[in-house]
Amino acid sequence: MDARPTPPGRTPGAPAAATVDWWRSAVIYQVYIRSFKDSDGDGIGDLQGLRAELGHLAALGVDAVWINPFYTSPMVDAGYDVADHRDVDPSHGTLADFKELLSDAHALGLRVLVDIVPNHTSSQHAWFTEALQSPPGSAARARYHFHPGAGDDGAHPPNNWRSVFGGPAWTRVPAPDSGPHEWYLHLFTPGQPDLNWENPQVHAEFEDILRFWLDLGVDGFRIDVANAMIKAPGYPDMVDGPDPDDGSSPCWDRDDVHRIHQAWRHVLDSYPDQRIAVAEAWVPTVERLARYLRPDELHQAFNFDYLKADWSAAGLRRIIDDCLTGLAVVDTLPTWVLSNHDVVRHRSRFGDGETGLRRARAAALLMLALPGSAYIYQGDELGLPEVTDLPDAARQDPIWHHSAGAVRGRDGCRVPLPWYGDAPPFGFGPPDSTSPWLPQPAAWGDLAVAAQSIDPGSTLNLYRAALQLRRNYRGAREGRLTWRSSTDDAASGLLFFTRSDGLACAVNMGSAPHSVVTPGRRLLANGAVTEDADRTVLPPDTAVWWHVDIADREEVVG
Ligand code: NOJ
Repeated sequence: MDARPTPPGRTPGAPAAATVDWWRSAVIYQVYIRSFKDSDGDGIGDLQGLRAELGHLAALGVDAVWINPFYTSPMVDAGYDVADHRDVDPSHGTLADFKELLSDAHALGLRVLVDIVPNHTSSQHAWFTEALQSPPGSAARARYHFHPGAGDDGAHPPNNWRSVFGGPAWTRVPAPDSGPHEWYLHLFTPGQPDLNWENPQVHAEFEDILRFWLDLGVDGFRIDVANAMIKAPGYPDMVDGPDPDDGSSPCWDRDDVHRIHQAWRHVLDSYPDQRIAVAEAWVPTVERLARYLRPDELHQAFNFDYLKADWSAAGLRRIIDDCLTGLAVVDTLPTWVLSNHDVVRHRSRFGDGETGLRRARAAALLMLALPGSAYIYQGDELGLPEVTDLPDAARQDPIWHHSAGAVRGRDGCRVPLPWYGDAPPFGFGPPDSTSPWLPQPAAWGDLAVAAQSIDPGSTLNLYRAALQLRRNYRGAREGRLTWRSSTDDAASGLLFFTRSDGLACAVNMGSAPHSVVTPGRRLLANGAVTEDADRTVLPPDTAVWWHVDIADREEVVG
């Protein structure tokens, strides 16, 4: 049995009281396992690679890791097509490797979340293979969404639903004997058939999968497409236009999906030490998101409004306010995230070249100063840009293939990490390995972990310093935020707030310098600032943290 993790800074074996609601302010590092570190030289990252580099994450100062799927999979969607939920894909290692990883992570005080993919399985999952061999109307087909086609000969898809990756959301299959052909539903690729969550066997199976990983000692789950499991009876056509915000879409964010999350919460709560779940739920409003976070449902949900936001102080202030007030209704705090494995890296979203990097560094200080929990995507701490010039032949994202090359897809944010050295593969794998599964830019040497570790001004050292400081600000009403800048200031690029625990943050997203009063101890800035008595002048794309003494907190003015 695995020892529970001791958060960094605490003595192993110290009382668990300090870990109550650990997740509310946790910094969670996303490990995209294929691209983190390759231990066996096959060009694909694996669990032993991650295990070998846990020291990097402990030194960075995060509280937990979330690992993208590493289960047995034909990899038509980089592991989000799971063929066996209780085993590890050989390209990523073995179950024994996972146990060792978990034990080492816990010994370092790092909690571990794994991904669970309940909306669909792989088309190579034993259930789907059985369904294909079974006749229409069989119990095996009832675990998925099989349906006769439309039109006299059933040659058309049953409705107008589209796959997220392009093309119809239905694929026709031959009948196993002389019976009628049916279609099956897949909201993603044809290799990812949707499960039928009206079927009690599906519920029972997933509760068992949760328990399998919880029994091994994982600290929680990231739930893939947590808003899609329930489909409307009769599969009505989708209405054109934006996703409705009242639960009336036939397949997204339907109210009954919450029954599943409530049942899962029961399972999580039946284990000691606060095992958690975080929802990946792209929903249209904060109000709809809050429903996933009711006290008897999930602990966290990704904040995609923040993830999608442009480099705009006014826009970000609006989103921050909406999220804080919208989630207070269910007595929780938001999560914040700048990048993940599905979107263009924020360094490139926020601008080209050095401008993008400066903004990414300022954005990190802003995000890490906000009350709540933050997610860091691997490589954020290195300031990695999106790789936009991957050769077509190297691209692997199904979006690229399903759009016949019209949409570039997500490979550019998934390029393997640079660890050391001045030429690819930058220590991603051992010497003489097969080339990494996606090619790395030749110029990434300066961005490698080893190079940045010894550069005091590096992005890596900025993250390390910020995460270390952040540990001191976890008290006082969870850092309730008070704006010290106005909405007019935001229009000219300035955000400035103090927190009830004494942390203050100002960020200049405008094009001209801003001068703010910064009484107290200056802690950190992402670039050169000019200091004059109790004022600091922030050039564009700069953020500053300082400590405000309790007595001064109400006095601070911009
Ligand atoms: C969301 C995941 O983040 C994405 O990478 C995947 O393609 C889809 N869900 C389908 O599982």
